[in-house]
Amino acid sequence: MQRAIETIALESPTGGQPRAASMLVAVVIAATAACPGPGRAETLLERGSYLVNTILACANCHTPKTADGRAVEEKELAGGGLSFTTPAFNVTASNITPDPETGIGAWSDDDIKQALTAGARPAHARLPGAPLAAVMPAGFYKALLPRDLDAIVAYLRTVKPVRNAVRVPEYKAPVHRDAYPDAEAGFSEDSLRDPVKRGAYLVTIGHCMECHSAWARGISDYATGLGKGGRKFGPDLVQGFAADWQGSTAPNITSHTSKGIGGRSDADIKRAMTQGLGWDGRVLKPPMGYAWYAGLHEEDVQAIVAWLRTVPPAE
Ligand code: HEC
Ligand code: HEC
Repeated sequence: MQRAIETIALESPTGGQPRAASMLVAVVIAATAACPGPGRAETLLERGSYLVNTILACANCHTPKTADGRAVEEKELAGGGLSFTTPAFNVTASNITPDPETGIGAWSDDDIKQALTAGARPAHARLPGAPLAAVMPAGFYKALLPRDLDAIVAYLRTVKPVRNAVRVPEYKAPVHRDAYPDAEAGFSEDSLRDPVKRGAYLVTIGHCMECHSAWARGISDYATGLGKGGRKFGPDLVQGFAADWQGSTAPNITSHTSKGIGGRSDADIKRAMTQGLGWDGRVLKPPMGYAWYAGLHEEDVQAIVAWLRTVPPAE
């Protein structure tokens, strides 16, 4: 598509009109440069907004919530959304608005990318050099394609700066992140064109399997327990959801026909993900970010389901 537009530009006659025409061409090329796959043209900023507000669900952790658990829109990404209390750390999701003092306004693009993909803090941060607690899913975000990282940073720069100092983190053990095989292997722009591979990419950056895989004593078992479920979340571990939340257990989402989702229709799985409704219509509980997944494009939800169908059955 890009080549076709360039051809048009080359063939434009010189004179009064072409300037406007080539400017338009430049705009169209800039806009389509961020096209994630066949058919969808969007700017870098649109792509960033889409990723942050759907599959990445940064706000599920980073935006403060009301007493009934809804994200406070005017405090988007202002920090203090969720806090985590574990044997290894007591941390609160940081203010990631562009506020220069309490947020990340003074961070360079590269600083932000290092935090996202390596869990690193820049030397000039409030806690210079201290690695981010493992709950910030950097081991999954390392799979982000360079263009998507650019898009996320571009979007974060447009968020309204909010002054909000969050509690200083407390670290009790060295940071440990389990390697997620698909993030280690990495993806390419080309892989996004194949629906199943695009699903794998979205599931990786959505860190679905971090919650849904077998987990014991702080270690995730992606080798033999991928998608097997069983991990428990409760208000002792995560603080910030609605006051009446008593906890939940991540279910088996492997292709096992009775224990997993193998026997469920695509529509059932999509409804669970994007509307937070269980098979029997039960309202599903946090911490999964249903409200954010609701904004996923249909073809991306379909790609996720297509990949989930490839997860070997386990029980
Ligand atoms: C599961 C919850 C969770 C999700 C999802 C999450 N984060 Fe975080 N993030 C945290 C926590 C908690 C911290 C603070 C860790 C610490 O203090 O050690 C953090 C720290 C950060 C920091 C470092 C800021 C600072 O001042 O130290 C950045 C930048 C950041 N997150 C960006 C993002 C972005 C962008 C997304 C979405 C792509 C995201 N996070 C998704 C929990 C999360
Ligand atoms: C922060 C943890 C977490 C993340 C991330 C997460 N989930 Fe979940 N998920 C859960 C929990 C917990 C439940 C069950 C909630 C309940 O029972 O009320 C659930 C429920 C589900 C269900 C319904 C299954 C059933 O048997 O009812 C599906 C399907 C699902 N998740 C798929 C996904 C996919 C796909 C992703 C990534 C796009 C994802 N989840 C990300 C924790 C998570």
